[in-house]
Amino acid sequence: MEIWENKKNAPIGVFDSGVGGISVLRELVKILPNEDYIYFGDSKNAPYGLKTLEQVRELTFLHVEELLEQGAKSIVVACNTATSAAVRLMREKYPHLPLVGLEPALKPAVEFKEHAKVLVMATPMTISEEKFHRLMARFEDQATILPLACPGLMEFVEAGDLDSEKLRHFLRELVAPYTDAGVDAIVLGCTHYPFIKRTLQQIVGEQVTIFDGGEGAARQMRRLLEQADLINTQTNPGRVRFENSLQDASELALCRRLLELEV
Ligand code: DGL
Repeated sequence: MEIWENKKNAPIGVFDSGVGGISVLRELVKILPNEDYIYFGDSKNAPYGLKTLEQVRELTFLHVEELLEQGAKSIVVACNTATSAAVRLMREKYPHLPLVGLEPALKPAVEFKEHAKVLVMATPMTISEEKFHRLMARFEDQATILPLACPGLMEFVEAGDLDSEKLRHFLRELVAPYTDAGVDAIVLGCTHYPFIKRTLQQIVGEQVTIFDGGEGAARQMRRLLEQADLINTQTNPGRVRFENSLQDASELALCRRLLELEV
């Protein structure tokens, strides 16, 4: 376990089932540029969205606790699936830990237009979990909410494929019934999906507004660190360290590429 003389200068731990959480990491780096980060992606065990609740819970606890052992002062569970399976229990176990989870950004999508038709794309587990049903129930009377489980989609991002013809075909088949019915907004309820946002936007057209929860999660982390007086005091830009359960160089190169991607 690394020891930080001053806890403020300890890193923020960011966890995802794979490379998707880098879409949240890049928002964190934007608004908290002087923080250090350890990003752990469990690509070896991905996709989480097709596993059982118990498996996802166990893997999430295992890897978040590894980040805590490395001295992380706070944690972002940058995965909607892991959040729905484990974050409530994690808050019970670590009541003083600044902890942010991800959930589909329904609120801004519902509020941007009166009685909008909102498509929510997420993993099968996120869509079937109680947490999402409760979220949907909160907004049901303000919009038409259409949940869409997208098995097979995160795999494109894991493979570094963000705009191939194969991906375009997959997306067209997936969303055509909804775009034909005239959706106003799409919520990307999986942290992998912001990396294919541009491709999706071309397919659904500019009249559809696409939302994701990355920026909101980063702002929430900044609030929690401020409240706990844990903002890093260094003045130089922070560092990002990538770790992945697939320990090969190409995986880490993909992580760097996604962090630096212009979107
Ligand atoms: N990135 C994850 C999420 O936000 C899920 C991908 C997976 O199925 O592992 O839900």
